Amino acid sequence: MSDLNSFIFKNSPKWLDNYTAHWSAPSNIALVKYWGKQDPQIPKNPSVSFTLDKCRTHTKVYFQKQPHPQESFLFEISFDGIPKPEFKPKVQSFLNRIKDYVPYLMHYSLYIETSNTFPHSSGIASSASAMGALAACIMDLEVQLDPLQTPSYTTQKTSFLARLGSGSAARSIQGPIVGWGQHAKTPSSSDLFGVKIENTHPVFSRFCDSVLLVDKGQKAVSSTLGHNLMQGHPFASTRFEQARGHYGQLIDILKNGDIESFVQLVEKEALSLHAMMLTSEPQYVLMQPNTLHIIQSVWEYRKKTGRQVAFTLDAGANVHLLYPNDIKELVQSFIENDLSSFCQNGAYIHDQVGTGIKKM
Ligand code: DP6
Repeated sequence: MSDLNSFIFKNSPKWLDNYTAHWSAPSNIALVKYWGKQDPQIPKNPSVSFTLDKCRTHTKVYFQKQPHPQESFLFEISFDGIPKPEFKPKVQSFLNRIKDYVPYLMHYSLYIETSNTFPHSSGIASSASAMGALAACIMDLEVQLDPLQTPSYTTQKTSFLARLGSGSAARSIQGPIVGWGQHAKTPSSSDLFGVKIENTHPVFSRFCDSVLLVDKGQKAVSSTLGHNLMQGHPFASTRFEQARGHYGQLIDILKNGDIESFVQLVEKEALSLHAMMLTSEPQYVLMQPNTLHIIQSVWEYRKKTGRQVAFTLDAGANVHLLYPNDIKELVQSFIENDLSSFCQNGAYIHDQVGTGIKKM
């Protein structure tokens, strides 16, 4: 049931006049990075991520049935209780992309209330959690209209819709570890939605992620722009090949629990991602001096203590530190004592691997 056609809603809806859906979705941190895509939101290489737990978006959607189906979407959006017309274009293009799969939505107006558990200006990529939560609310309505839908189909379609909002959002629906993008190593994998990576070593379902907030500002170059710069990039095909290789290696590591290899691979991925930015046309740098100070300190710490802490980066200056739960106290005091001075206003967030979307 994984072709495009299977995601088109075809049943006769059991109409409801009003419905309120309330869901939260977490952010995720990619271990093998998605960087480069083609229309419509099809990744150039498979990626894998840890689903996070505490860094989440909470979204409530009030659906109100309209007397006639609408020509264009009728919706409003607020963030932290304040109307946000500036968020409308992103939501509008998401709704346009999913329209054919959720035709019932044209019969409703939507009032969307949303908020994040992490500080708004933390520079943490919030599109994955935002689109994940919105897709979960829409699928909640769909289940009311079509109560016989199976839970596994609902999960898959939620990820499918979320992907059309933001690629990485496809990986925020389930947890603790999700792959998105077709790869022979994961037979159920697809370019259309994320799938849970099964039978992973227990050490990884309790992994910690501390997000070191080096720069809380708006990113200089958005992810969407960055993805586009992979078109015609001189190293693009080598990068996609490398990521595909890393995906295969990482799946083995996630199953056998080899943390040393995990650390090496995850750091190589982070630096390869940023190497693509450094060599784009035009070139750009999202790391900051404190990003490099942290990387250097992590390498020194690992050499000195033998403790397996890995850094990874998303498309920004912030650093995610990944480490097993059994060294949590030690690593968290290292962060407090040696790394917090590299963070803007000393800010960091201790998170851990989580399970995905939740109905509120
Ligand atoms: C570096 O999912 O934010 O975090 O599909 O354009 O919304 P769009 O991009 P987005 O890209 C995420 C890029 C990344 C790597 C990753 O999460 O895999």
